[in-house]
Amino acid sequence: SAPIPMKGPSNGGTLDALAKATSTCRACGLSAGRTTVVFGAGSAKADLMIVGEAPGHYEDLRGEPFVGRSGQLLTKMLSAIGFERADVYITNVVKCRPPENRSPAADEIAACSPVLHRQLELVGPKAILTLGNFASQTLLETDEGISKIRGSIRAYRGVPLVPTYHPAALLRNPHLKKDSWEDLKTLCKVMGRNVP
Ligand code: URA
Repeated sequence: SAPIPMKGPSNGGTLDALAKATSTCRACGLSAGRTTVVFGAGSAKADLMIVGEAPGHYEDLRGEPFVGRSGQLLTKMLSAIGFERADVYITNVVKCRPPENRSPAADEIAACSPVLHRQLELVGPKAILTLGNFASQTLLETDEGISKIRGSIRAYRGVPLVPTYHPAALLRNPHLKKDSWEDLKTLCKVMGRNVP
């Protein structure tokens, strides 16, 4: 895959160093409207890394990913497959909240993704769960939509990656929960865990 560009915050040698460097990032326009950089949360040695889209209102205020309504659903999804939030590492494609919760723009994703790639390198998960279009498309370098991509096992730099719907999509369209559950079971299989 493409080399990690060195633009943006410098690549720290640890997750903490990278978080510190990222906390003052001005690499894209989203920095102007943020309250807090939402770097990521959970275990730095996690076997599972989860990637969402972008911080929303509550995440921006708290500086923590997935603490709003989508986050509550994500916590339940994880718990259904035997994970606590503290067991996994959770982050987003972009670390600053887009205004009015609009989708992140291509240039914002490009500015921020070196941080995401470096987080993946530093955490070194055994599996990756991508939530929705932006995370799946960014890590898989594809334009295909999530409804096409999900249901398969992909790879990111040799690490198995399971793409699934974003919890916000599940909240809007509860009928998608059935497929989402299949994806979570696939994730368990990929990780050699008991499938509920
Ligand atoms: N949606 C996301 O994609 N990420 C968050 O952190 C919260 C909501």
